[in-house]
Amino acid sequence: MSKTYIVANWKMNLLPKDAIFQAKQLVKQYKPKKRNNDIEVVICPSFTEIAAIAKILQSSGMFLGAQDVFWEEKGSYTSSISAATLKDHDCKYVIIGHSERRQYQKETNEVINLKIKAVLAQGLIPILCIGETFVERQDGQKESVLFDQLSGALQGVWLKEKDRLLIAYEPVWVIGSGQAVDPDEAELTQASIKRLLLEFLPAGIVSDNISILYGGSVNSMNAKSFLSKPSIDGVLVGGASLNIEDFLPIINYNT
Ligand code: PGA
Repeated sequence: MSKTYIVANWKMNLLPKDAIFQAKQLVKQYKPKKRNNDIEVVICPSFTEIAAIAKILQSSGMFLGAQDVFWEEKGSYTSSISAATLKDHDCKYVIIGHSERRQYQKETNEVINLKIKAVLAQGLIPILCIGETFVERQDGQKESVLFDQLSGALQGVWLKEKDRLLIAYEPVWVIGSGQAVDPDEAELTQASIKRLLLEFLPAGIVSDNISILYGGSVNSMNAKSFLSKPSIDGVLVGGASLNIEDFLPIINYNT
């Protein structure tokens, strides 16, 4: 049975003491139906809290992710963090190509491609974020934007049997808006993403190694309507992952 992923993206929102408090509370109150169940909860704090939160999450049934990475293994790259360093801190996942990095750091599909390769080379799992802006959607360009982002990010990426890749479809215009897209529309988009992937990846890889998540204003009220759709393999949660009251019902949605 394939897993369901619930990923918390804390972005740049929590001071260290608040992030550590939040992680400790989560560990205390998380009730997986059974250990080793089919739900994988991933917490992505700022780099500065990675080491502390790695310790807190140990044996909790939850996993650690980073919000970004640099593509080189080591060297004179001031301020950058390598995939090897993240691995050393017990990170299992790395968010790559979030729309906020594409917008504010001008991250391109080429850079995203290098990061995905670097993360896979360390045996970590990339969470590739894709999504169209409101203008692109209005102009009828949604599919072509998604295709460019997918094909650019995955150019020359060969997933081995043990590799996994998560793709988070996040329509840029709903992120942080409080208004998610309709779960039926999200489901249709998941199907289009699968179809687009099949244009350049073997069917076996698309079905066995890739999971497709939805992100954008997921909260405790609407999470279940996304997570109960068979073709939506999980959710990427920003704002609603920042406090226990909102996030606990999401990660315990099936208890
Ligand atoms: P949001 O953010 O849940 O606050 O909309 C999601 C994201 O940016 O990953």
